[in-house]
Amino acid sequence: MGGMGMRVRIAAVVVAVLAAVAGCTGDDDPQPAASASPSVAPSFAPGAEGAGDPYFPTYGNGGYDVVGYDLKLRYDPAKGRLEGTATITAGATQDLSSFHLDLAGLTVGKVTIDGRPATAKAEKNELIVTPAAGIVGGQRFTVVVEYGGEPEPLSNEALGVGGWLRTADGGFALGQPESASTWFPVNDHPSDKATFALAMTVPEGVEAIGNGVPGRRTTADGWTTWTWTESKPMASYLATVVIGQYRVQTSTHDGKPVVTAIPESLPADGPAAKAMARTTEIADFLATQFGPYPFDAYGGVVIDDNRVGYALETQSRPVYGNVFFRTRPNATVVAHELAHQWYGDSVSLDRWQDIWLNEGFATYAEWLWQEHEGEQTAQQAFDRVYQGFDWKVPTGDPGPERLFGEAVYQRGAMTVHALRTTIGDAAFFKLLRSWPQSHSDGNATTVAFISDAEAAAGKDLGDFFEAWLFGTTAPPRP
Ligand code: TRP
Ligand code: ZN
Repeated sequence: MGGMGMRVRIAAVVVAVLAAVAGCTGDDDPQPAASASPSVAPSFAPGAEGAGDPYFPTYGNGGYDVVGYDLKLRYDPAKGRLEGTATITAGATQDLSSFHLDLAGLTVGKVTIDGRPATAKAEKNELIVTPAAGIVGGQRFTVVVEYGGEPEPLSNEALGVGGWLRTADGGFALGQPESASTWFPVNDHPSDKATFALAMTVPEGVEAIGNGVPGRRTTADGWTTWTWTESKPMASYLATVVIGQYRVQTSTHDGKPVVTAIPESLPADGPAAKAMARTTEIADFLATQFGPYPFDAYGGVVIDDNRVGYALETQSRPVYGNVFFRTRPNATVVAHELAHQWYGDSVSLDRWQDIWLNEGFATYAEWLWQEHEGEQTAQQAFDRVYQGFDWKVPTGDPGPERLFGEAVYQRGAMTVHALRTTIGDAAFFKLLRSWPQSHSDGNATTVAFISDAEAAAGKDLGDFFEAWLFGTTAPPRP
């Protein structure tokens, strides 16, 4: 083992030196002096093909960090075809000889890095990009990928489908933990958040709703381009676009745009429309609990499609399956998805194992909302769930197949409530506001949460979290 590893390492150094020499001589463009340690020759190596998530080792990629995605796309609902250009600005986190992007089921044409042709090889759901010369660690670079095809969803045996779904009048991108790679080349892991700009061209008369702030809408030759900008860093699974026949409503709230959309197949004043109309009222209630709303825009999109039996907290503009609104304008689901704007979207996961930080708090927000609405107190909600609960699955380590199970949502919310009764309302509500504030636009872990909670409480909570997050029997009722 050792001898073999050594030979590989030596070979890698030789290749790296040759690459560095080639990079210097074969290139008359002035290169920015961006080496982190200029006295040391760079040792170029391929970026890892996964981001190293313990649950999903192949998700995302290593060796670089994306700063922003700029997508200029065209979708033809009649053909189910998507095509366009992705411009990805990133920083190398190591000396890179090549790197991976995630891209599933689409075909790549020309690829450039900083304007120079690069080679790209498709392998399963990965795109391996090799620049003409190595990229030095610490250096910024821009990858432009021309691509197209008929986007298709990814299916995960345990977690269902994610990604692009085609509809009779268009299509939409939706999924967790994976979705983005079905419609653009991406570092598809929440640990690499990036800003996002989308220009989506669709036939005139078709709507295309994305994340963030709406920009200019232009029409030429029977095609309309809708533009959307999310300027706060966003995890890739929170990117969405919904294309089809929609009633789009735009207003402002606290100076920020509010964009809601419901399908034309649903009545303009039905329960889905009524639920969407409560978006800012519910966001304002949550702001009293969690602190200022973290994004530059509000809104929501309802999808009327049997395949969408869920809602997703897509950044600043959650998407809701109409199942939630068949009989009434269910505000609880809106409270859940809007709570994620603080817990999950502004403060994002570093690894999927910590999913309770998203779902436990979003479910607890439902309880706070229901108490606010006079439906039931948070304590009553806790009591109902605690009674007869099956404690076998640990909330803090549910396993990749149970990412969205009861242990994460219900036991997660019970953990939040138990924390409240253990540390008292004053410390608890201070923590509920300080967590989204101090980790805003970033990533955080369960370990960091425990440490913040202990700081807010002024005491050790090791045993408490051990029992509530990792135990497999009923924790003592607080
Ligand atoms: N995070 C979503 C919620 O709790 C639920 C969810 C899990 C989901 N996996 C999904 C939604 C896949 C859409 C697609 O609100
Ligand atoms: Zn949720």
